[in-house]
Amino acid sequence: MKKVEINTNITVYDNLEELKDEEILLLASAKEATFKSYAPYSNFNVGCAVKLDNGEIISGANQENAAYPACLCAERVVLSAISAIHPNAIPLEMAIIAINKNKENLEPAAPCGECRQAIFEWEKRHKHPIKIFMRGETGRIFKVDSIAELLPLAFSKNDLI
Ligand code: THU
Repeated sequence: MKKVEINTNITVYDNLEELKDEEILLLASAKEATFKSYAPYSNFNVGCAVKLDNGEIISGANQENAAYPACLCAERVVLSAISAIHPNAIPLEMAIIAINKNKENLEPAAPCGECRQAIFEWEKRHKHPIKIFMRGETGRIFKVDSIAELLPLAFSKNDLI
């Protein structure tokens, strides 16, 4: 028997000034996208912006439903939109901004488990890691270089072969 340790690498930025201009722009697009959120049940507005290899930024937000399981997270709204609009484009970077209307949230919210699995599939499909920036309403910013950092021992197509 042996114990195995799995490490996660997260870069923490204390403020926006530590980021590159194009990264700040991506986070600004995600924040702007929180206005597209339809979240009358949770009051939790999540905006997501993804930069593609063609330079375009696609953004969207969570869309809730009175039948809760039908709710769509911002991340999967945007990835699905990309597949519809630019099926061959490769997502390079993602920014996620979560704003809790019930309280001030100054810490980033990481993608939910289902979105981690979905983002992982997009990475594998395009054979390219997706950098992910996360932020609350304000405050520090977390970055991972791939969803693999947030999804150790991921279930993948290899398990189905
Ligand atoms: N939500 C997202 O949009 N992304 C996540 O990764 C976490 C959760 C949304 C879903 C729902 O509309 C609200 O946040 C509360 O869970």
